[in-house]
Amino acid sequence: MSADVLLLSGPNLNLLGQREPEIYGDATLEDHVAAFVAAAGEAGLTVEHLQSNHEGELVVAIQRARGVHRAIVVNPGAFGHYAWAVHDALAAFDGPVVELHLSNPEAREPWRRTSVIAPVADGVIEGFGGFGYRLAAEAIAHLLAR
Ligand code: DQA
Repeated sequence: MSADVLLLSGPNLNLLGQREPEIYGDATLEDHVAAFVAAAGEAGLTVEHLQSNHEGELVVAIQRARGVHRAIVVNPGAFGHYAWAVHDALAAFDGPVVELHLSNPEAREPWRRTSVIAPVADGVIEGFGGFGYRLAAEAIAHLLAR
């Protein structure tokens, strides 16, 4: 049976724990995924996770999610600021979408203040570090229960 929620992680998130820990913290992507899976599980939801450094791979995963997964949570990494193909793929997905960032891009460099994902997301969670993964799971459970 297919997982309820597709959790997507964009470029460079595979380096979490080693990459700019002063911004992103010490936890690894595996830690964040485990927190998300646990919180989703508490809400009775199953999760499939994919990390990719390639825009096209994320687009393919979002296309494949149509009619398969009920919801998508995406931390698009830097793709969130310019990858219109990811925007378009999400626009063609019927279920709820939550955009997630560990840091608060609004409070960083000006180029990070643009999100091409937010216009096709039901909501955005940013700036709460790893706790955001739990918040995103709860947000998706809330949206699916509507
Ligand atoms: C990020 C924020 C992005 O601006 C950045 O490019 C990342 C990580 C975050 O989770 O805070 O790779 O998505």
